[in-house]
Amino acid sequence: MISNAKSFIALVGDKNIRNYKEKLGYYGESIVLEATNLKLGTCWIGGTYKKEECKKYIEFKDNEELVCIIAIGNVDKNLSIKEKLVKTLNKNEKSFNDILISHNKEIPSWVKVGIDCTAKAPSALNKKIVAYKLKDNKVEAKIMKKNHGYEKIDLGISMLHFQLGAYSEGYMGRWKYENGGYIFY
Ligand SMILES: Cc1cc2nc3c(=O)[nH]c(=O)nc-3n(C[C@H](O)[C@H](O)[C@H](O)COP(=O)(O)O)c2cc1C
Repeated sequence: MISNAKSFIALVGDKNIRNYKEKLGYYGESIVLEATNLKLGTCWIGGTYKKEECKKYIEFKDNEELVCIIAIGNVDKNLSIKEKLVKTLNKNEKSFNDILISHNKEIPSWVKVGIDCTAKAPSALNKKIVAYKLKDNKVEAKIMKKNHGYEKIDLGISMLHFQLGAYSEGYMGRWKYENGGYIFY
């Protein structure tokens, strides 16, 4: 779907780093949001690109792998017919309650805005497989389904969106990895 892209950002992960795929999603998306702020167009690409061609431009260290790329550049403001069609067909809107799947008390505004921001997070094949639970002012992020091997990247992307949403409501939380899950304090 992407043509004439002249530049890409390579997301290279060190397989020895714990949870490198979630980190790659989180920091990759922070680049995407900053690029968007600069009015650049971006697209995460995990599958539909010439991986071997891209690898030629990258110096890998031991244990490093190319996980995804982000195409980046100036885009035409006017969408082509194909782009308009893809935009219409690619809809997968999740309601607030599909994303925040459980809560035991009134939902604070920082959680509400955090969840609204995760609804706007990109995900591979637009599957939106990340859900959240709220318990005693702690939020947990969870992968609900596999997504062709991209679920951990989707999770990292979604967690950044949640954190920025919470932050915009004045809640300076951070994600911590505990007992195999992600908790936001
Ligand atoms: C980890 C990841 C991998 C992706 N891989 C591809 C890809 O291989 N090809 C592609 O055209 N889009 C890819 N996308 C883009 C998603 O399909 C797109 O972000 C999603 O459908 C939402 O569309 P929107 O960003 O226009 O709302 C990927 C997105 C993510 C987050």
